[in-house]
Amino acid sequence: MADDELIPPSPSEEAYSVDQDQGEVFTDDDPLALFADWLALAKRAEPNDPNAMALATVDADGLPDVRMVLLKDIDAAGLTFYTNTQSAKGEQLAANPQAAVCFHWKTIRRQVRFRGPVAPVSDEAADAYFKTRARSARIGAWASAQSRPMAGKLALAKEVALKAAQFGIGEVPRPPHWSGYTIVPTQIEFWVNRPFRLHDRKVFLRESVGAPWRTERLYP
Ligand SMILES: Cc1cc2nc3c(=O)[nH]c(=O)nc-3n(C[C@H](O)[C@H](O)[C@H](O)COP(=O)(O)O)c2cc1C
Repeated sequence: MADDELIPPSPSEEAYSVDQDQGEVFTDDDPLALFADWLALAKRAEPNDPNAMALATVDADGLPDVRMVLLKDIDAAGLTFYTNTQSAKGEQLAANPQAAVCFHWKTIRRQVRFRGPVAPVSDEAADAYFKTRARSARIGAWASAQSRPMAGKLALAKEVALKAAQFGIGEVPRPPHWSGYTIVPTQIEFWVNRPFRLHDRKVFLRESVGAPWRTERLYP
């Protein structure tokens, strides 16, 4: 039995009747332009991190893994995020360069999912983005052996202090183990909440990168 104190019960008929139908929301035939429109709406509504997305990868045993990352760039090539390439996700992507991401914006009750192959960003692009990060975050990228066991919080503070001393007031270059990945979508699905769980879904599919998109509506 679900714990109603902890887990919200299924909405009543009355609760659904105040649940607004958002009407036609698939307002563009280009999925990346449509995504940009939805992200702009989310940016106005979300309390923080409208660009946060759950990134799914699989490990060498085929076991899925998922964690949040921040979308940092979107263009015709795809969706780019940055991370430590020696992290769990970095190793998983090295072994199997494919991923899925999911955005869920609670404030506007919408979800967008992407799937596709993953390509590393160029050194130039990674350098350019790294330069935009706060100095302390740049030092942090050197100090953190992301995803590997750490003796304690003090170990990280010590590494941060060591790296800060090492760079002094000089430039903090991008670490060799820190870069970005671009998910090149071959599937993009848009979902919007509707009353009585009769949600609206539209998926854009293409056989390969560069092939034309075709669309399908899906049962909720
Ligand atoms: C909202 C949010 C945004 C995050 N953004 C990033 C990010 O852009 N890059 C990153 O490496 N980790 C980010 N993290 C931390 C990751 O979720 C994760 O803890 C870390 O990357 C290690 O993941 P891994 O061990 O699966 O490689 C973010 C976490 C949250 C909650």
